[in-house]
Amino acid sequence: MVFHKSVSLLSKLRSGAVQQPGLRNSVRWLQVQTSSDVDLHSQLKELIPEQQERLKKLKSEHGKVQLGNITVDMVLGGMRGMTGLLWETSLLDAEEGIRFRGLSIPECQKLLPAAKPAGEPLPEGLLWLLLTGKVPTKEQVDALSKELRDRAIVPDHVYKTIDALPVTAHPMTQFATGVMALQVQSEFQKAYEKGIHKSKYWEPTYEDSLNLIAQLPIVASYVYRRIYKNGQVIPMDDSLDYGANFAHMLGFNDPGMLELMRLYVTIHSDHEGGNVSAHTGHLVASALSDPYLSFAAALNGLAGPLHGLANQEVLLWIKSVVADCGENVSKENLKEYVWKTLNSGKVVPGYGHGVLRNTDPRYTCQREFALKHLPNDPLFKMVSNLYEVVPPILLELGKVKNPWPNVDAHSGVLLNYYGLTEARFYTVLFGVSRSIGICSQLIWDRALGLALERPKSVTMEWLENYVKKSA
Ligand SMILES: CC(C)(COP(=O)(O)OP(=O)(O)OC[C@H]1O[C@@H](n2cnc3c(N)ncnc32)[C@H](O)[C@@H]1OP(=O)(O)O)[C@@H](O)C(=O)NCCC(=O)NCCS
Repeated sequence: MVFHKSVSLLSKLRSGAVQQPGLRNSVRWLQVQTSSDVDLHSQLKELIPEQQERLKKLKSEHGKVQLGNITVDMVLGGMRGMTGLLWETSLLDAEEGIRFRGLSIPECQKLLPAAKPAGEPLPEGLLWLLLTGKVPTKEQVDALSKELRDRAIVPDHVYKTIDALPVTAHPMTQFATGVMALQVQSEFQKAYEKGIHKSKYWEPTYEDSLNLIAQLPIVASYVYRRIYKNGQVIPMDDSLDYGANFAHMLGFNDPGMLELMRLYVTIHSDHEGGNVSAHTGHLVASALSDPYLSFAAALNGLAGPLHGLANQEVLLWIKSVVADCGENVSKENLKEYVWKTLNSGKVVPGYGHGVLRNTDPRYTCQREFALKHLPNDPLFKMVSNLYEVVPPILLELGKVKNPWPNVDAHSGVLLNYYGLTEARFYTVLFGVSRSIGICSQLIWDRALGLALERPKSVTMEWLENYVKKSA
């Protein structure tokens, strides 16, 4: 029986059953949290020795097992299909999409604690899951919410650093600059300067990571309010959870928007290790750069239009359709517009993927959210029509490997519906969420003592000679 379709397994998980045998190869230690300890740090401390042993065994007993062949195409094609990274927090299947510690998005929606019955998962619960591999209780999530609020104190110099930039600077530039300014408080850097033993690296990494995750919504909201709301900052509300507080500090208090933000932050958090932002964070951290330095680098990758900036591009593109053809554009006119985009040498933003070969489940859950909360929104209707119109056109091109929509094809219209209409800001939201995945893995990088990244590169001449020799 396939795990993700098994309702009985889901109910066993909910009732506290542990050690799923069907998951032995991927998430052997996925379990529901049975301990009543609400302290994440001590939970992690217990888990680390067990996982260190697991890695040691893998290395000593199976270190020489081959995982595949490297072809010239892979070297020239951005390392597609080359297995080369260890990433514990999530795993992507080309057809099915992402699983967080073995749980699909619908499973996370069912199993992770929510703010209200049948509500969207709380991102704090996902953070707990990514870090421990265990589904937390509501009490544990509430304790983590509080811990994150307690850590959410942004030093004054961070605002001044952002203020030194022109207000017209792209929100991602202002956000990444703010993260670099936060770096001066790095516990890892201080501990390293004092000569910390390598077996303890994970502890200040944990401190930095949780502080960073806690403070990012404040920095992001500051950037938003600075650019779009005359700098009128909204303080945190101590009664709110992480996602709701973020929406609140941005200036949105509609209960629908609070739920959207919880879902948004949860589903954008992690997408295994090879995507540009996650890989960049991991690469930079492999030099023992602290979480702030590593995450700022990741953000700069996220800011590219083929990666995280695509969510901005999608809404701007949809708005250009509205400007040219009106809100109630026919499918025929939509087709023409898609061809016009392609013929002018541009991509259709929000469609295609480096690994996925099916509709992204992150798209699907946002579509379900829209069907529930904004079924009659004209832009949602356009997104639905695009779902019918775009894939056949991309297939007709003959070269696109995945004609289906990705996460970015949907997020903008949801945010736009609740009043967050400034598309240039969207990638910052993605960035806040991504910290949860990247930092969780980074803590494990240090706990497991993962190696400095240093793959081999070659020249075209080297490849030509190699090919000649092997002919
Ligand atoms: C995500 C993306 C960068 C993946 O790139 P990839 O792994 O190289 O994808 P493919 O192997 O399918 O690309 C093969 C060709 O199809 C093109 N292609 C892929 N997706 C396309 C799209 N949405 N619109 C137009 N052309 C597309 C590529 O540009 C490439 O063209 P080329 O050979 O002339 O360079 C690509 O699909 C894309 O640009 N999508 C739009 C941007 C986007 O939504 N990004 C967010 C991703 S989560």
